[in-house]
Amino acid sequence: MEIISNPTKVDIQTSAKALKDGHLIAFPTETVYGLGADATNEKAISRIYSVKGRPTNHPLIVHISSINKLNKWAKDIPSYAINLAREFWPGPLTLILKRSILAKDYITGGQESIALRVPQHPTAQKLLIEFERIGGEGVAAPSANKYGAVSPTSTSAVLQELESSLDHKDIVLGSDICRIGIESTIISCLNDTPQILRPGYISKESILERFTELDFVNTQSKKLRYPGNLKKHYSPIAKISINKTPKVGEGLIALRSYQTPKGVFRLSAPIDIEQYARELYSAFRLADEKGIEQISVILPGRIGLANAIWDRVYKASGAP
Ligand code: TXA
Ligand code: MG
Repeated sequence: MEIISNPTKVDIQTSAKALKDGHLIAFPTETVYGLGADATNEKAISRIYSVKGRPTNHPLIVHISSINKLNKWAKDIPSYAINLAREFWPGPLTLILKRSILAKDYITGGQESIALRVPQHPTAQKLLIEFERIGGEGVAAPSANKYGAVSPTSTSAVLQELESSLDHKDIVLGSDICRIGIESTIISCLNDTPQILRPGYISKESILERFTELDFVNTQSKKLRYPGNLKKHYSPIAKISINKTPKVGEGLIALRSYQTPKGVFRLSAPIDIEQYARELYSAFRLADEKGIEQISVILPGRIGLANAIWDRVYKASGAP
């Protein structure tokens, strides 16, 4: 496996070619690092599943360079979905749409729908543009971590997770810390009204600011497979307690205004919810590196992006 910290144009070309040849490329996006493979190459996709240790009925997000590729992968797209894509792509938004014939069962986990996203990070953008230039259709990329573990937001976290599982022709691209730090907002566009399946940086509030007339479905469909119906996800080894005063020897994640009690190890002290989200996963990792067994998380007020923080912390804690 090769690590390329600051990819040049030639490195991007080499990486796109490697994708086309069926190898895996880990790359930064503005949310978390992805583990990419050619979305039309069944063998390459099967390697994603084996490297991650992920069950094969768990569908993947296909990453495309722009909205122009939407019709390749999806059909019968509702107009509100087009509007969302126009407004928020490139960016931390994934849309679930009816699949086209290009989207095979090995991508969708056998479902009739496909998850699509146009990431905004320049390295991801350049890689996708080059991949499509040489004939690629899209890059399937789950977060670059082992199944159920914390998503990586830095190259070192990618290496911690996957170094021992990648082959010598696979590539890890980039050196950035991901700007947002938690995974994209996932919105199902399969019905007359959209439904948020996974909250993220693009919050319901920020969508309603732009599309005041839009209704959202609130109940979650049991038929779909998405992160919410796994019992535990995004989990560090340490146990997590929520909104309880931390005890001596425990780790603490809370807004900076929350004082660190004596004998408690401060894992993160963000000044706002953006920084809270950005540092959440690295704080989880730090706890495990330090051998801390219990993390006390004091959650911020539940509005906007904080909904996504609540979602990830509850999933990580294994609480219902
Ligand atoms: O920010 C992100 O979304 C990152 C970066 C790399 O793009 N990717 C990511 O992928 O978080 P992953 O595979 O770790 O999580 C994507 C989730 C999966 O848990 C899956 O359940 C859901 O998207 N998903 C994919 N296709 C779906 C579909 N057709 N219907 C419902 N959920 C779907
Ligand atoms: Mg993931």
